[in-house]
Amino acid sequence: MRIRREQPSDRPRVLRVVHEAFASGPDEPGEVALTRALFDDPGYIPEYSLVATAHEQVIGYVIGTRGYIGDTPAVGVAPLAVGRADQQRGVGSALMWALIGAAQARHEPALVLLGENDYYRRFDFAPAAGEGIDAPVASWGRYFQALVLTDDPVAGPFRYAEAFGL
Ligand SMILES: CC(C)(COP(=O)(O)OP(=O)(O)OC[C@H]1O[C@@H](n2cnc3c(N)ncnc32)[C@H](O)[C@@H]1OP(=O)(O)O)[C@@H](O)C(=O)NCCC(=O)NCCS
Repeated sequence: MRIRREQPSDRPRVLRVVHEAFASGPDEPGEVALTRALFDDPGYIPEYSLVATAHEQVIGYVIGTRGYIGDTPAVGVAPLAVGRADQQRGVGSALMWALIGAAQARHEPALVLLGENDYYRRFDFAPAAGEGIDAPVASWGRYFQALVLTDDPVAGPFRYAEAFGL
């Protein structure tokens, strides 16, 4: 498996992986339209759009986009997706560690996401409310999580990139 930056030519295969990972019925999951919109969003950052490949096939994808905690730039992570046949083999973890490393290299103060606490705890994410970072949707509760990378204070309401429509 390799992790590298997404290229525009990867996008059809990225969208297929996102579709497969999130599908729960016949309809296209909302994460597909979100991903498509993020490619054209002003908050798109090439260094934070990463594919996992095996045998030159895209098997996983993660994207972080520009968001803000109050007035402070930060990274909103979503979606993270691994093709069904390749789950439970460390692909999602490799993508997340690569994204966290890329964010650290660019001195981002924090990453935030909406997800399962049991999964994201392994990367040191914790409920964002405990860091003073408020979710765009209050009912997300403890599932809205943050990984703070700075010793400086970062607190306030989080605003995702426009494509999220929040
Ligand atoms: C969630 C997802 C990205 C994890 O990727 P992955 O490559 O399968 O995960 P990894 O191999 O890195 O890690 C596997 C571990 O994560 C755990 N895990 C996987 N999905 C989980 C979930 N939804 N909640 C809690 N734990 C989860 C596994 O139990 C396993 O635990 P272990 O290490 O203690 O055995 C992947 O399963 C996926 O694409 N799921 C569908 C889409 C989705 O839910 N995306 C995340 C949105 S928040």
